[in-house]
Amino acid sequence: MTMGRLLAGLLALTTAAACRRPASVPPSDPMLDAIRAEERGTGLTYAEGQGKHLFDHYCATCHGDGGKGDGQNASNLHPPPPDLTASKNLGDAAHLRRVIVEGSAAVGRSPLSPPWGRTLSAQEIEYLALYCQRLATTSP
Ligand code: HEC
Repeated sequence: MTMGRLLAGLLALTTAAACRRPASVPPSDPMLDAIRAEERGTGLTYAEGQGKHLFDHYCATCHGDGGKGDGQNASNLHPPPPDLTASKNLGDAAHLRRVIVEGSAAVGRSPLSPPWGRTLSAQEIEYLALYCQRLATTSP
């Protein structure tokens, strides 16, 4: 065996050993794994995903599952719930939070969108606002 081959062999061995050294992978956290899987599946951030769960529960009956104003209760309402995916008002964060917390009457509209400030936490309101903004910005 020539010196060159010997050196090449040694080099290959040390490189392989370096690769085998266990990388410092953080221990997996089932909660974080679940959150990341959900983010990947829905394309929503964690906060928006929480907002969607709340929206499906509290708002979809009027606003519809995707916020398009086609909830099962929509045809009973005059004015009907607007299509949130096309609303120009949701870019105004203060307006949006006010409607959610105090109801649509607080911004000079009908009282049909209820006030949630007494029943939902500040964190839940924040999640809802983020999801509504996401609806408004991802419309085709
Ligand atoms: C009982 C039916 C109903 C429920 C439940 C409801 N809304 Fe509404 N919402 C409406 C109606 C109707 C309007 C339009 C009011 C108007 O223009 O006078 C509206 C308006 C809004 C607007 C204003 C949109 C714009 O373009 O300015 C936002 C934001 C909104 N709702 C968010 C929510 C959120 C978030 C929830 C759940 C936490 C919710 N609403 C629950 C019926 C509802």
